[in-house]
Amino acid sequence: MHGTDATGSARSGTAPWWRDAVIYQIYIRSFADGNGDGMGDIAGIRSRLPYLRDLGVDALWITPWYPSPQADAGYDVADFRDIDPRFGTLAEAEALIAEAHEHGLRVIPDIVPNHVSDQHVWFRAALAAGPGSPERERFVFRPGRGPDGAEPPNNWRSAFGGSAWTRAADPDGSPGEWYLHLFAPEQPDLNWENPEVHAEFQSVLRFWFDRDVDGFRIDVAHGLVKDADLPDLLDDTSAYPAGAHPHQDRDAVHEIYRAWRRVADEYPGDRKFVAEAHTPTPDRLANYVRSDRLHTAFNFDFLRCPWDADAFREVIDTTTSYLEEVGAPATWVLSNHDVIRHPSRYGRSLQEWPYGGRFSAETPLDLELGLRRARAAALLMLALPGGAYVYQGEELGLWEVEDLPDEVLQDPIWERSGRTERGRDGCRVPLPWSGTAPPFGFSPDGSGAEPWLPQPEEWKEYTARAQDGRPESVLGLYRTALRLRREHPALGEGELEWSEADEGALSFTRAPGFGCVANLSNRPCPLPRGRVLLASGPLEEDRLPPDTAVWLAL
Ligand code: GLC
Repeated sequence: MHGTDATGSARSGTAPWWRDAVIYQIYIRSFADGNGDGMGDIAGIRSRLPYLRDLGVDALWITPWYPSPQADAGYDVADFRDIDPRFGTLAEAEALIAEAHEHGLRVIPDIVPNHVSDQHVWFRAALAAGPGSPERERFVFRPGRGPDGAEPPNNWRSAFGGSAWTRAADPDGSPGEWYLHLFAPEQPDLNWENPEVHAEFQSVLRFWFDRDVDGFRIDVAHGLVKDADLPDLLDDTSAYPAGAHPHQDRDAVHEIYRAWRRVADEYPGDRKFVAEAHTPTPDRLANYVRSDRLHTAFNFDFLRCPWDADAFREVIDTTTSYLEEVGAPATWVLSNHDVIRHPSRYGRSLQEWPYGGRFSAETPLDLELGLRRARAAALLMLALPGGAYVYQGEELGLWEVEDLPDEVLQDPIWERSGRTERGRDGCRVPLPWSGTAPPFGFSPDGSGAEPWLPQPEEWKEYTARAQDGRPESVLGLYRTALRLRREHPALGEGELEWSEADEGALSFTRAPGFGCVANLSNRPCPLPRGRVLLASGPLEEDRLPPDTAVWLAL
């Protein structure tokens, strides 16, 4: 498959596929359940490959499928060279990769290099071996502060709440050193000062490249390297000069990715990395995608952007100009498994929302408005130069499930925050495929399995089956947009030119002969001359209604 155009794209040319690919994020536990246990798996993905091919995406990013105690839904990996029995077997993963390629779909697993599970053999060995051992050198163990070392070594906080340190027991059972975990205590951070860690991950990359994966999504790509002195964090973390934050976006992280790039380049075809990197500024993000490092990095400024034309334009311009300097394509994204689904974000009057944060119940939601905007956002995103990600269910118009009962919540954020933050489960609810009642075809008929998170009844109108064959549905919109994107020579990589537009609207053209107008204001705006290729909602004669976007042949 490699070296040829596995995507079947109408655009030929010599640019590597990843420069303008549309990649579909499969959150494996919630995509499709093949074995009837209420949790998604590889068998489920295999059975839905025709759906993904027909949707018109180029590749699949699959969230962690490795053996894991699932303390953080698989981001606590116990063994990078196998598959969790909940999800299938290694042989099934290999079959999936081969079948996806036959369908013209590339496959990108997730790799989690910042931390492992506390059940990983390395961490168990580290606990057993005790202080000062080479086993502990693979992690970040330190004596505590204060009398008897009962205080954590510094003031760092876990992203999920609470201290970033947990006290371990010495092999004799007495309280001993502390270990660092920037996420849950079940996710001890690796020590990237240790060459063994580098060697291990390069070997893991090879393990999967040998199984013909097309690349990796890199979890917490900005976090691997820590200041070896482990200084306390300043109260105001925005005060750090670039690269000086003790555990984020430190320059030495790029050495790791230079080595990873060399590994990827050893393999035939165009293998690619996409970084989940959070950086204080866009120029720092561009560092990750210089030509000797990673290929792409998610643009979270776009995802975070409030529903405001000027704000979008600024993000688009800033992103493309910094990336142009380093010769990398942009990577647009509206949703993923960590954030509130975008119809629910856009359906609130609130203009700002914190990354990973949740709305309070008091912020009223206008879901109809949110869905209208989400449709417009899809056309805006898919018309921009570069590549894009689609989070499973976004093509069905799914929204955040905000009323999950407390007792079903599984995100560690819920407990770690002392049950003050509900966490990310609301964007992780299993997909509705067919039928008129839960589990909506998520599990095989007759299995009697309940999905691992309950689905809202209202999703009966949003199943893939209910939308199939209806061009005006969200699924119809995505299918048409993705088909046009493949066919139209102006779309994908390239440049855009802004045109005059009313306040609150965005208008740009792309050569040859393509125009996109998105009206983010609350009044109609003029529709430029041209033949309508696709509109996110009903149009008025020569006006573009509020919260609507259109693609035009000029
Ligand atoms: C990334 C993942 C998130 C996970 C965290 C720790 O941000 O996207 O789901 O909890 O890393 O691995």
